[in-house]
Amino acid sequence: MVEETIAPKSNSTRTAGLRRTGVDEVKPEPLSSVTFQSEPRFKTGMEELNRVLGGGVVPGSLILIGGDPGIGKSTLMLQVSGQLSRSGKILYVSGEESASQIKMRADRLDVDSKQLYVFPETDMNVIKSTISDMKPDAVVIDSVQTMQIPELQSATGSVAQIREVTADLMNIAKGQGITVFVVGHVTKGGAIAGPKILEHMVDTVLYFEGDLHHSYRILRTVKNRFGSTNELGVFEMMTDGLHEVTNPSEIFLEERLKDATGSAIVVSMEGTRPILVEIQALVTASVFGNATRTATGLDRNRVSLIMAVLEKRAGLLLQNQDAYLKAAGGVKLDEPAIDLAIAVSIASSYKNRGTSPTECYVGELGLTGEVRRVTRIEQRVSEAQKLGFKRVLVPANNLQGWTPPKGIDVVGVSTLSQALKLAL
Ligand code: TYD
Ligand code: MG
Repeated sequence: MVEETIAPKSNSTRTAGLRRTGVDEVKPEPLSSVTFQSEPRFKTGMEELNRVLGGGVVPGSLILIGGDPGIGKSTLMLQVSGQLSRSGKILYVSGEESASQIKMRADRLDVDSKQLYVFPETDMNVIKSTISDMKPDAVVIDSVQTMQIPELQSATGSVAQIREVTADLMNIAKGQGITVFVVGHVTKGGAIAGPKILEHMVDTVLYFEGDLHHSYRILRTVKNRFGSTNELGVFEMMTDGLHEVTNPSEIFLEERLKDATGSAIVVSMEGTRPILVEIQALVTASVFGNATRTATGLDRNRVSLIMAVLEKRAGLLLQNQDAYLKAAGGVKLDEPAIDLAIAVSIASSYKNRGTSPTECYVGELGLTGEVRRVTRIEQRVSEAQKLGFKRVLVPANNLQGWTPPKGIDVVGVSTLSQALKLAL
């Protein structure tokens, strides 16, 4: 006799997310015979949010909105709930505010609807049964850190609670086809019990960023199973809530000084969208032995590398110079095409010579001082043209097989020193 262990029936709460609703047994099947109905995305009233989500909200998806406390997550969710409630039933669960506090905020935001239900509750069992009874089209959970499963021993907001709460929400989304928005606070100092631990569980992760001292807020896609990542939406926080900013390039450039040195404009791609951003550099002689290099909104390593290339390939003596760099307007830039603009801004500050206010720079720098090809050059150039720029320096290789539009001077450069000669 050989003992045979019978594997316990798989815990359906863990795998339900992958199963099609109503199907108990899942078997492998040829991909060619799998059918699906393309479900229409439903649009929120905010075009900026729709784009960030990849064209609208996919029904039955689980969307995480992360961000620092006080950045405006609850405001955004309440406004979105108000818009969605025009075409469906929305349940807004808050563990942070009472119904009357939500009402006060809603009045300020001019949100009012018979289809929008507010529910101050933190017990996940109660929330789950309410959802099954009510069958809303979408649920907002504000925030995941305040929700709790009473059977679990761990404290509210702990890693274990957050993980289980999210698993429950995942089941609601996938099992019942209800779209769930989850708000998660990013705790200062990056404490683990933040949204980071549940990024892999949800369909879409959006981060709401911005400087509390500025009114602009940026909504960024970090992960999206249904669309492109690194899309970006720009909002402005006003006394009556968040307003969309449809032309962010203008706001990022509006405070630019004329004839200032150490400034260079780049056309950076944020997902599929080109935005113009000013890169500022301040280069001064170091007072103490070690030169300081700081970068805000830019990668510090990238800045150090470009300074080394400038030193070696363009003959700028930067080793005993402090350099402070900044992407103006509170944006974070992270793509190779910004290299040339960083180099130009540093050289401009070092040589104390201003760049032309109607010129911008696009290009990646190689270690030998060559300017390398970048993606989506047509879009970048046409965005610069739209905003009234007269000349743009681009990698020479990008000009192969492409005729630049009329009305803007597109100059191809192949080396860093050639670009600096033209720019300064
Ligand atoms: P909130 O949405 O409560 O932030 P979060 O949920 O991310 O913690 O937003 C808080 C800030 O937004 C608060 O400091 C005040 C500001 N605010 C406005 O400026 N205008 C408004 O209409 C609202 C509702 C909030
Ligand atoms: Mg809040």
